[in-house]
Amino acid sequence: MSQQEVRVAGSVRAATAARVTEGGQVAVTRCRIGLVGAGRAAARHASTLARFHDVSIVGVTDCDLAAAARLAADCDATVAPTVGALLALRPDAVFVCVPPFAHGPIEEELLDAGLPIFVETPLGVDREVPDLLARRVASAGVVTAVGHHWRYSAAVRRAGAVLAGRPIRLVTGSWLDSVDTAGWWGRRDRSGGPIVEQVVHLLDLLRALAGEVVEVYAAGDGTPPPGVADADIDGVTAATLRFASGAVATLATTCRFTGRRRAGLEIFADGASVTITEDGCEIRVGDRSEWHAVDAETSYRAADRAFVDAIRRPEARVGVLADYAQAVRTHRLACALTRSAAEGRALRLRTD
Ligand SMILES: NC(=O)c1ccc[n+]([C@@H]2O[C@H](COP(=O)([O-])OP(=O)(O)OC[C@H]3O[C@@H](n4cnc5c(N)ncnc54)[C@H](O)[C@@H]3O)[C@@H](O)[C@H]2O)c1
Repeated sequence: MSQQEVRVAGSVRAATAARVTEGGQVAVTRCRIGLVGAGRAAARHASTLARFHDVSIVGVTDCDLAAAARLAADCDATVAPTVGALLALRPDAVFVCVPPFAHGPIEEELLDAGLPIFVETPLGVDREVPDLLARRVASAGVVTAVGHHWRYSAAVRRAGAVLAGRPIRLVTGSWLDSVDTAGWWGRRDRSGGPIVEQVVHLLDLLRALAGEVVEVYAAGDGTPPPGVADADIDGVTAATLRFASGAVATLATTCRFTGRRRAGLEIFADGASVTITEDGCEIRVGDRSEWHAVDAETSYRAADRAFVDAIRRPEARVGVLADYAQAVRTHRLACALTRSAAEGRALRLRTD
């Protein structure tokens, strides 16, 4: 049995063991979760996980100890000053919710310990760290998940079913939004830029529904969004993408608005079209059209639940719709678009 199989077996045992109390009730041993990062993403996961009857958040660490202490107090967990101290609390799995520039050493330490990891998007600022970690994940063989929650929407799954078997011809995507308030957001070397940090969710959906992209050309406006100190990111980017299937896509993105105007895709296939936004999904087949509401909260919850289930039961691993290996492909696409805009030329992508 490999080290990873031992770890998974250990986790399953820990998570599913039940003991009979003196009163005769069956008490389920909870899955022990640790959090690295105590900002907004971690708080949302904490609030979702707290509603699962079979999960305990055992510890929180953050380089800002005060932030770790606040979130730990909210979820009745222990403050851990370092990742090592978090590991000493014997978590069954860890959520990594740090900004793009902070990925790398954290995941390495967790993988060295053989722990399943849920990593928030994006996986890094460029390809270097995620490519390295993808190799580490493959050799560790642990359960991984990445926060591409749109994949978990029932409406998106329905759209995928309608599109199956119909050649997709054209996709138009747009992400028209504002600058995130986080101080690291406006710097390429901190966030990776808006395509990597924000639009990556659309790119993941695009891959999930239309397949792999083989060529990209992107143009940035070379003008940072106004009012953002030290920003060096493009405020606007337009791009074209060619899929392995022969389909083509356009993508229009900006972070110059105040508030989000739109984030979504329109997919045109033979005999059907699909429009997906954060609110809902319109599916048109011939003359008929149906509308399905998309509830982001339900998708966030489903993503967390799928990860916890995969830790507890090996057969539930198939429920993780975006693992690290899958997400690194989406990340490479985002990096290719960013690089194409920076270098002003079309780039071909490998799909193996
Ligand atoms: N999947 C989604 O829909 C979604 C939603 C929100 C955020 N996110 C992603 O989650 C990540 C975090 O976003 P956020 O909004 O929580 O940011 P944030 O700035 O609110 O919080 C990040 C936290 O990480 C901590 N941190 C930074 N470096 C660290 C390190 N080396 N070790 C430990 N802690 C460290 C910071 O002190 C901070 O408390 C971002 O990459 C963001 O894009 C994804």
